[in-house]
Amino acid sequence: MVNSFGGSVPAMIYLANLCVVLCVQMVSVEGGALKQETVLESSAATLNHSMALVQRMEALLTHGNASDVILRVQTLNTDEVKVIHVHSLVLTLQSDMFDELLQTRNSSTIVLREPANCAAVFDKFIRYLYCGDITVRLSQAIPLHKLASKYHVWDLQQGLTQYMTQHLSSDSPAGHVVGWYQYSVQIGDVTLQNNCLQYLSWNLSSVLQSAEWSSVGEELLLSLLQRSDLVLQSELELYEALEAWINQNQPSNATAENALKAIRYAMISPQHLFHLQKKSALMLKYYESVRDLLFLAFQFHAASPVQLAKYFDVNCSLFMPRNYLSPAWGSPWVINNPTRDDRSFSFQTQLGPSGHDVSKRVMWNALFSPRWLPLSVRSAFPEHGSMQPTRTDGGRPRIIVTPATSSPDFAGVSFQKTVIVAARKQGKVVVRHVYNFHQNTEEVGDFLLDADLQRRASEYLIDSSLYLHIIVKPLYHSLIVGKK
Ligand SMILES: *[C@@H]1O[C@H](CO)[C@@H](O)[C@H](O)[C@H]1NC(C)=O
Ligand SMILES: *[C@@H]1O[C@H](CO)[C@@H](O)[C@H](O)[C@H]1NC(C)=O
Ligand SMILES: *[C@@H]1O[C@H](CO)[C@@H](O)[C@H](O)[C@H]1NC(C)=O
Ligand SMILES: *[C@@H]1O[C@H](CO)[C@@H](O)[C@H](O)[C@H]1NC(C)=O
Ligand SMILES: *[C@@H]1O[C@H](CO)[C@@H](O)[C@H](O)[C@H]1NC(C)=O
Ligand SMILES: *[C@@H]1O[C@H](CO)[C@@H](O)[C@H](O)[C@H]1NC(C)=O
Repeated sequence: MVNSFGGSVPAMIYLANLCVVLCVQMVSVEGGALKQETVLESSAATLNHSMALVQRMEALLTHGNASDVILRVQTLNTDEVKVIHVHSLVLTLQSDMFDELLQTRNSSTIVLREPANCAAVFDKFIRYLYCGDITVRLSQAIPLHKLASKYHVWDLQQGLTQYMTQHLSSDSPAGHVVGWYQYSVQIGDVTLQNNCLQYLSWNLSSVLQSAEWSSVGEELLLSLLQRSDLVLQSELELYEALEAWINQNQPSNATAENALKAIRYAMISPQHLFHLQKKSALMLKYYESVRDLLFLAFQFHAASPVQLAKYFDVNCSLFMPRNYLSPAWGSPWVINNPTRDDRSFSFQTQLGPSGHDVSKRVMWNALFSPRWLPLSVRSAFPEHGSMQPTRTDGGRPRIIVTPATSSPDFAGVSFQKTVIVAARKQGKVVVRHVYNFHQNTEEVGDFLLDADLQRRASEYLIDSSLYLHIIVKPLYHSLIVGKK
């Protein structure tokens, strides 16, 4: 084996040493008893030269001493070739794919064909195999992930997936999340796909205004339009962004129609609907496809919830609000030092989005308790009394949102509340969580459960404050109607 390296003598000794290091490691893992003995003995110490080892491994790759294999990395559809002198032992250790390639090779050269973006990071990839660390930039995540997947370097692959999940909100001039989404669909990574989709959904307003919006593919566009948890200013904002997307992407008629049918016209005021109907070139072109929906929306605006429910199935997405940030739907609420004590807050919303209720307002009271104990827990400690629950340790954050007054106008409507929690990620404020409930967050169960608000460095605090936005979504009740 040693002869076949054909390298310089010191390098051979070096590789032999490497083998010894590896063998020693294996012994210490298996020999649990031996290890324990070492720990118990008080004079034992660890001499740690692993940094130097990594440096030597890097030098080994850089200088190619005692290399026994040459990789010729050809960029697909070009004449470009990168030559890297490597060591079969190292490649085999890290990748069963390389192991197989090495066993079936004919010569000391292995030819690999890679697309341009992968060929560009191939050095970096090989260096990772030698040194076990790697520095990744946003634009390198996909090509490196492709290489890690192709050559079965699973730790690197997992690390890159994690990197992408944690860097969705990082700054990049042209945006990168849409590209990562498309890649995750292509490779069938459902977790990454859902993370990207959720990120885009929860920060949609900024995506709609960015250069990235026009790069959204048809499939992603339609998935986004189906969602009720989109966080954006208003439905009109979404319509206008869709019009811009269609103008830029010129999709097939069928795609344009499907997308237009997913707009929730009932959530747009009649005044704006009139305007779209007469002035939007897109609407004029596809008027036939959306006429019925527009008609339904106008009917929605003309009647009270109870009247409407008598004649229509109100349980359909057309009448379902998304998470609109415009003032008619709710209010931001910034709570400084949230663990200090209970806070209350009042705000006003429209009674509903229907033109019928346009002048009616509802006043809401919100109460935030940093350490609320559920009734069931409190009754186990009768000495606290049921009225002072928040002083006890171990309670959980809770928000309760109730109308300040009752009104006969509430007939036929129930109010779903959504609390959006923002947090800072990579220096940017992004939506961290969206909680839906009817009266209080106990219904949710996990409200701010991982937030650890006591900790000043909690990921959920921005300059020691909790940034919330409460949205009230009027939902129309279905009346039970006997169907023939
Ligand atoms: C690699 O080889 C060069 C000369 O060919 C030598 O100077 C250098 O010390 C060697 N490096 C190692 C790590 O053996
Ligand atoms: C050895 O040192 C490196 C960094 O210098 C460190 O990351 C590693 O955990 C240390 N290993 C042990 C066993 O102490
Ligand atoms: C190995 O060599 C044989 C004959 O020379 C050839 O048919 C075969 O394709 C080669 N295999 C590889 C992996 O290059
Ligand atoms: C798309 O719609 C336009 C107008 O509505 C029509 O002229 C055109 O033929 C349609 N194209 C296709 C491929 O159906
Ligand atoms: C509304 O429709 C959804 C699915 O379409 C269904 O899951 C839900 O139970 C319905 N709600 C009512 C109140 O009918
Ligand atoms: C994400 O959305 C929140 C709420 O709309 C907004 O405050 C924030 O600026 C957005 N962040 C990014 C990076 O888009």
